[in-house]
Order: sequence, then C-alpha cells, then structure tokens
Amino acid sequence: MKLGWNEVSVVEHMVNIHPARDVSSLCIPTGSDVRLTRIDEDAIRLLVDSFYDKVRADAELSPIFAEAVRGDWEPHLAKMRDFWSSVMLTTGRYKGNPVAAHLDIERMKAPLFDRWLELFGDTCTELFDAGIAELFRIKATRIAESLKLTLFYRPKRPPIGR
Ligand code: HEM
Repeated sequence: MKLGWNEVSVVEHMVNIHPARDVSSLCIPTGSDVRLTRIDEDAIRLLVDSFYDKVRADAELSPIFAEAVRGDWEPHLAKMRDFWSSVMLTTGRYKGNPVAAHLDIERMKAPLFDRWLELFGDTCTELFDAGIAELFRIKATRIAESLKLTLFYRPKRPPIGR
C-alpha cells in the first residue's frame, strides 16, 4: 500500500490510538503472516536487529560496516534503537550526529543508499503491517535524501566578488 502525504498524518494518528497487540514473544518466523500493528520499543528493537542482520549479510554494505564497527555490534545497535525511538516515538533518546558519522566513511557512495533503503524496506515489510511499514519507509527515505544532499551535493558557486 502506497500512502500520499495527507494520509501519512492519518496513519500516524491511527498508530498512536491503535490497541496494542501482544508482542511479548517478539520473534516473527521467516515467511510468517503475522505482522506487528504497533510501534513500540520492542518493535523497534526487532526492526533494528533484523535490518542489521541483513546488512551484515549483504555484499555491498557489509564491507563498509565491517570497517566501521569492529568487534562488538551492540553499541551500534543500541545507538540505532535510540535513533529510531527518537524518530518514530519522539523519545529524544538519540543524541548523536548522523551527518558527521557518515562523513567519516571513506567508501561511502550515493548509490549505496538505494541498497540501504531496499534492505530497510524489505525488513519493514516482513515485520509490520502495511501502514506502519510505509511510515518507516517514508521516514527513512526522507532522512536518506537529506543525508545524501549533505554528503554529496556540492553546488558550483561563482567565486566571491565576481
Ligand atoms: C549508504 C547508506 C548507509 C551506510 C553505508 C551507512 C553506514 C553507517 C556506518 C558505517 C555507521 C557507523 C557505525 C558505528 O560506528 O556505529 C553509521 C551510523 C549511523 N547511521 Fe548510517 N549508513 C547509511 C545510511 C543511513 C541512513 C539512511 C540512516 C537513517 C535513516 C542512517 C542512520 C545512521 C545513524 C543514526 C548512525 C549513528 C551515528 C552516530 O551517532 O554515531 N544511516 N552508518
């Protein structure tokens, strides 16, 4: 299901009032029809952990992360849970600087964002019902666009004084 901009705020509202489904046994087997219908910290944990499992198995993205995240993945995963908690639940838990973190990545290239978004979108589709998956995808796409602009867009400016 693709949502228009106006529908997004309606879905955001629905997400907030939707009755909680019991997600206490948060483990969705591959190929299962069960989809989470609520965004909470447990759902975000599942999303982050599942997404970075895919990243670590991906031929294009894994070398970049292998260089940046040496050894223990837990600090990176914890940071990313805080990030998505801040973005989707406005908890303010994330205190970092994503632009600075990505500027430091030597092998970063604009087309890699397509792969990142593809894996992220697949993970959302597997875990969430269609409306919530779309909300995550919209946020991720917007953030990816702004990161890409900051990292790669270099407008040609005329020299000052001419
Ligand atoms: C080509 C796509 C991307 C690549 C290769 C990439 C790679 C990385 C790497 C290697 C790190 C550092 C890991 C660490 O030291 O903990 C990182 C951090 C991070 N990434 Fe990305 N990333 C990509 C896209 C995105 C997107 C689209 C988002 C958001 C929707 C995002 C959000 C973050 C955040 C919040 C951090 C933590 C920054 C900090 O506070 O240190 N990344 N990323």
